[in-house]
Amino acid sequence: MTSLTSKVPPKPGPLPRFPDTFLWGVSTSAFQIEGALDEDGRGPSAWDAFMVEPGRVKDGGTAATATGHYHRWREDLALLKELGVGAYRFSVAWPRVLPSGGGEVNVRGLDFYDRLVDELCAAGIQPVPTLFHWDTPLPVEERGGWLERDTARLFADYADTVAARLGDRVAHWITLNEPAELTLLGYGLGEHAPGRRLLFDALPAAHHQLLGHGLAVRALRARGARSIGIANSHGPVWPLSDSEEDTGAAGLYDLLTNRMFADPLLLGRYPDEGLAAMLPGPVEDDLKVISEPLDWYGVNYYQPTLVGAPDPAGRGGEFAGIGLPAELPFGIREIPGKERTGFGWAVVPEGLSETLRTFRDRYGDRLPPIMITENGCAYPEAADDARRIAFLDGHLRELHAAVAEGIDVRGYFVWSLMDNFEWAEGYSQRFGLVHVDYTTLERTPKDSFRWLRDALRQQRGGA
Ligand code: NOJ
Repeated sequence: MTSLTSKVPPKPGPLPRFPDTFLWGVSTSAFQIEGALDEDGRGPSAWDAFMVEPGRVKDGGTAATATGHYHRWREDLALLKELGVGAYRFSVAWPRVLPSGGGEVNVRGLDFYDRLVDELCAAGIQPVPTLFHWDTPLPVEERGGWLERDTARLFADYADTVAARLGDRVAHWITLNEPAELTLLGYGLGEHAPGRRLLFDALPAAHHQLLGHGLAVRALRARGARSIGIANSHGPVWPLSDSEEDTGAAGLYDLLTNRMFADPLLLGRYPDEGLAAMLPGPVEDDLKVISEPLDWYGVNYYQPTLVGAPDPAGRGGEFAGIGLPAELPFGIREIPGKERTGFGWAVVPEGLSETLRTFRDRYGDRLPPIMITENGCAYPEAADDARRIAFLDGHLRELHAAVAEGIDVRGYFVWSLMDNFEWAEGYSQRFGLVHVDYTTLERTPKDSFRWLRDALRQQRGGA
């Protein structure tokens, strides 16, 4: 793993020029930044319950305060203005709007996002809300959460409620964030809320999220939404060798993490009949809802995955730092010869352009324009984060190459504006362009913040 003493990368030269209409932004999510979990009528979420169970979150961290954004949002808005982004991706907390998941609306919850959206618009920053970033209302989770079909319907009703209030000013809607991770980490492996370890029996949670997405698209359209997308995590899956065992295992992993979540949306079908048989069927009619046309498709990209047959030593390898059970039919291995982020993730900028080319080749005419809804890295440096600058610069050059090849990418959002609650990793992984002191909640822009600010000025044709 790289340490603070590792080589400091040199400051990169100017970025190539992106199209004038290219949308530049940064991303956050409600649970990771807001805190104020008991305030203004918010109800608990699955994560509120999960994070206080001993051993669930590193160092016993909780999101009770997180970055304190709920009270400091004006300060964070000032940072967005200073950065000069054209868009801000945040998430609306379902349990703030509907503390029971459905039924009575908590108007004070909506008021918070209403003010934020107003002030973003006044600052000329396009609001890009995500409707669901993993904070399922606890009463909904207690009835089975996304394993239950009814959760899809509740989610669409919630989407309608938010659109009724914010729809006149929202630029681009995102329905779900990374349903693959919630399915795998939350229901499959139990490393995230709700902490279920169902392995392949978690798959209904994927189908119901996708169904909820499709129903939410319909609800948003009915409220006049003109720009709707989703934020799905994608990355290349590389087989460990050419052997049948390794390519087969990698193919299955690709199916479960990439194609299972993109094919239904873009092609209106699941990628494999065996997989479809594990879903709560019949799914044919649902697939018509799931494949409602999208205005754009959001890709969260972090790193490729090297996959082989299960390790004979009985280890399943790691997924984003999480040990996989040996009984799974694939094993994840460390990608050799690459720099690593502070989180231990491989730094592979060309994995971003590879992902985009795969999408172009796989989905052809069915692929709407793409937005990179997340890309970023965790490093511990509080101020002089040259490694984050090198990471972002490298990925943006690969993105530019893909755009120059004719792949229709319309925007790029850095994860994240500021350091925040990194789920099971607590506060140990810092993804921010802005450093947060978790004792004082003071925000201090890092070098990468100034680098991005200057790069955006240059993109706009300024000095
Ligand atoms: C994806 C998730 O959407 C986000 O919540 C998380 O913090 C980042 N990746 C980094 O792990």
